Amino acid sequence: MIKRLLPAFVLLALMFGPAYEAAQQKQLDVPYVPTKFPVVDEMLRIAKIDKADIVYDLGCGDGRLVIGAAQKYGARGVGFDIDPERIQECKENAAKAGVTNRVQFFEQDLFTADFHEATAMTIYLLTSVNLKLRPKLLRELRPGTRLVSHNFGMGEWKADESSEVMVDDISHEVYLWVIPANISGAWSWTMGRPANKCEMNVTQAFQVPAGTLKVDNAATEIKDLTLKGDKVRFVIERPFEAKLIPMVFEGKAAGQTIIGTIKFQAGGKEFSWEWKAGRNPATEKPIDAEAGRTSSFVLK
Ligand SMILES: C[S@@+](CC[C@H](N)C(=O)[O-])C[C@H]1O[C@@H](n2cnc3c(N)ncnc32)[C@H](O)[C@@H]1O
Repeated sequence: MIKRLLPAFVLLALMFGPAYEAAQQKQLDVPYVPTKFPVVDEMLRIAKIDKADIVYDLGCGDGRLVIGAAQKYGARGVGFDIDPERIQECKENAAKAGVTNRVQFFEQDLFTADFHEATAMTIYLLTSVNLKLRPKLLRELRPGTRLVSHNFGMGEWKADESSEVMVDDISHEVYLWVIPANISGAWSWTMGRPANKCEMNVTQAFQVPAGTLKVDNAATEIKDLTLKGDKVRFVIERPFEAKLIPMVFEGKAAGQTIIGTIKFQAGGKEFSWEWKAGRNPATEKPIDAEAGRTSSFVLK
């Protein structure tokens, strides 16, 4: 609670103060401050880690998040840290925890790390570093990948979920994002017999899409358009025997297609049609409205 009342620079000095000088000497983007274990537990919980996951930690410190994911959930994990001392600790800690067959650690700058294999990612960096990293995260992580950050946000990209953990009277925020597919642009499909021609235009800011639709050139309201990872869902209403009936569209976005179903009830019967929408690739737009923005707090 106190945390919220303090200006950002006082907060950073309090949290990272003792490690700040060491960080400057080692040319780190973020000083080494390990995440407390109750917060580690919450980060892994909110990300719903399970044994199928490959968990990456960028700036992995002593490896506690990756090792925790392997030990507690049987996941596999990869950690990157630019500081060789940390990587040495990671390897020793993995051996002590008996998980060396499930985890790997690399001495590498997080900005050049290859993490496209991740199904979940943890970070404890700084907002300025998160913002610099954000375009790479959105570009390289697959839709549906869970990203969890300790204490620091992603600017305009608001978290999908968050929680708070109190440790020794200090509150720690935990933020979760699900990497969204990019569904921006002009989509079209046909449905029914005789075929109705549908044209949908989507604009998207991070995980939040907004859309307009024309069915046979008539404007048709899109209700409750949502995107979670690569899963798209919305409802439209269509006339049937002097009534409006809801049609539920659910599909999975992959590249220039969305494939799924259109479900509705009419005349006492349930219908489930195949739905296949295609996008004009030239109409896809970046979803990171703030790309390139940097914060005023930079360590090096
Ligand atoms: C705040 S600590 C977090 C450690 C660990 N993730 C945790 O939560 O316990 C940040 C870590 O990032 C590492 N680091 C700083 N700049 C880095 C960079 N450019 N590339 C990779 N690691 C970096 C530091 O050495 C430090 O271990």
